[in-house]
Amino acid sequence: MPLSYNIFMLIDRLLSKITRSILERLNVNRGPLNLNSRRGAFHKCWGHVFTNHLHGDYVEFGVYRGDSLIESIEAFLEFKKWLLEEAVSPEQWRAKQAQSSPLNDKIMFHGLDTFQGIPANDEHNFTFSEGDFYAAKSVVENRLKKHFTNGITTHLYEGSFESTGVSLKKTLFNRKISIANIDCDLESSAMCALNIIEEFLQIGSIIMFDDYNAFSANNNKGERAAFSKFREKSRFVYEPYFPYQYVGQAFLTVEAKPD
Ligand SMILES: C[S@@+](CC[C@H](N)C(=O)[O-])C[C@H]1O[C@@H](n2cnc3c(N)ncnc32)[C@H](O)[C@@H]1O
Repeated sequence: MPLSYNIFMLIDRLLSKITRSILERLNVNRGPLNLNSRRGAFHKCWGHVFTNHLHGDYVEFGVYRGDSLIESIEAFLEFKKWLLEEAVSPEQWRAKQAQSSPLNDKIMFHGLDTFQGIPANDEHNFTFSEGDFYAAKSVVENRLKKHFTNGITTHLYEGSFESTGVSLKKTLFNRKISIANIDCDLESSAMCALNIIEEFLQIGSIIMFDDYNAFSANNNKGERAAFSKFREKSRFVYEPYFPYQYVGQAFLTVEAKPD
């Protein structure tokens, strides 16, 4: 091998390494994989879904103004773009994998909220008082319209989870959930949300709890208490996935309990 060729290859490798590192820092191609933010959490979760080609819908309990719903859709679209690029890869095995991915089938985004703020409750946390986080459904609808014009299917369900759970279940019917985002703060609300989603979970489904360590991480309060009671009677086994933001924690569904 001539020396000039080796030098050329070395420079080429060095340049790609530098380019990759710059792009990664700018979050251009690999996304915010190492960020502890909610955006980083969505990137990791959708990364898990796309790496495993796990088909399922995204369901969010507690939408408020739609920030996390929009962030989740944005992270999803980045991976969807990656899948479409893979499908035309010159490497045939890549193209074949991408073309046969279940993720080419439609994924729907569901958001549930009173759209009247936190419901009346007796959970004694002044940061989750009745009416806090008030935002009208139209605010979220308008934001979704402004952000996405490209065939994303979203369903918003207005009312308490107790009352809208039935129509969510009807829409999901025989679909599965890949990511459930429980962002409703209260134990009673989180418990209701978990009971609604259980029949749609599958091995690999992620459950994100945005306020897992709220109530000062008290085991007997909030989303923590709801999940600890729920997992005892659930037909699945769950495993901690990663913590995020200030008080969030994600879990993975890893096993079905024997009947
Ligand atoms: C912290 S906010 C959600 C924040 C939102 N995910 C974001 O990205 O900004 C909590 C939301 O949960 C909703 N919520 C709590 N309990 C509920 C229940 N039982 N039924 C319906 N909505 C509920 C509240 O109305 C509130 O909008």
